[in-house]
Amino acid sequence: MHTSVGDFPGARCNFGVRRPRAPALRRRYGAGVSDDAIQQLQGIDAELAARLDEAVDPEKLYALQVEFLGKKGKLTAKRALMGSLEPAGKKAFGQAFNAIKAAMEGRVAGRKETLEAQARLAELSRIQDLTMLPQRGHVGSVHPITSTRRALETVFRSMGFDVLDGPHVEAEQYNFDDLNIASDHPARDMQDTFFVAPLSGGQAAADLVLRTHTSPVQVRAMLTRKPPIRIIAPGTVFRRDDDATHSPTFHQIEGLCIDEGVSMADLKATMERFVRAFFGADLAIRLRPSYFPFVEPGAEFDVVCPFCERTPGETCSVCRGSHWIELGGSGMVHPNVLRAGGIDPERYTGWAFGFGIDRMAMLLHGVSHLRLMFEGDVRFLEQFPC
Ligand code: DAH
Repeated sequence: MHTSVGDFPGARCNFGVRRPRAPALRRRYGAGVSDDAIQQLQGIDAELAARLDEAVDPEKLYALQVEFLGKKGKLTAKRALMGSLEPAGKKAFGQAFNAIKAAMEGRVAGRKETLEAQARLAELSRIQDLTMLPQRGHVGSVHPITSTRRALETVFRSMGFDVLDGPHVEAEQYNFDDLNIASDHPARDMQDTFFVAPLSGGQAAADLVLRTHTSPVQVRAMLTRKPPIRIIAPGTVFRRDDDATHSPTFHQIEGLCIDEGVSMADLKATMERFVRAFFGADLAIRLRPSYFPFVEPGAEFDVVCPFCERTPGETCSVCRGSHWIELGGSGMVHPNVLRAGGIDPERYTGWAFGFGIDRMAMLLHGVSHLRLMFEGDVRFLEQFPC
């Protein structure tokens, strides 16, 4: 509480406020009061009043309070003056002392209230800038192969294809046999295939391999769906290949379309649509006759190099001057494969393709070396923010 100094006119001793003269003091405190002693008290009060502004926080105010009103404070020290006074003056001095002390305490309390009010106001008017972004730790990004796979999925989904997944550890049956790959086919050679060793406990796993391509998902789709079938199956595949341009782990996307009356023309038309949607340009495509055991006829699928234009007159570093980029293989599903999938080849026909995703990601992002895609170097990966 702020003690009002107005209750006691003699205590209103601010600088600039007229101090009562001796006769007024005598009137107030009675005869015998020492003018000099009271004026000393008033001087201390005036000094406190003048210095109150120094107390800009509670600690400084407390220091001021101790300096003036504490046990060894300036005002307390003046109590000793009492001893030198006449008995009549003692009472008057005591009254004056108490009144001035109360007034000074009132000043301190008033200042305390002011400081508290200021602090409250500052707290209430504090503006929290919510637009300020917090300091975040490192945020990862989507790997270019993942973003390429997602883009491929989006394009094929828009054309009515379902996206299927298949196991990385695959039955030899689906990876080879059912795809019309004979048991003596070189693709089964130890050089290419990671065979899964039987468990030491004895359980045979000799017929399991790390899938060497995404084509076994064709068989899985045929065994679980009825025509018309339209699926793609992107994913990781594994081969015992490890050099500058080959990685033992890489990615493919398989496509399969089976229905009555499906022909190679459907394959070509679908691929044209895909290239336009994926590369964002009407790039020419071509099918080059080739051999894959699971298709007949089979073809390599090429798309015209979109990068040649960048360096007119120079040999393009992407297609090395051939003007074509090979995306993978394709063809009409072999009747043996349809049969293995439980589909009647007399009634249904189908086309399939299998492309490398890593190469497409390299093309899209201008990545020069396949290795960069798999080394997990943060300096490379953070160049592909989400
Ligand atoms: N599976 C083949 C490979 O990994 C690629 C392929 C070729 C897939 C022709 C197909 C196809 O579906 O029709 O080399």
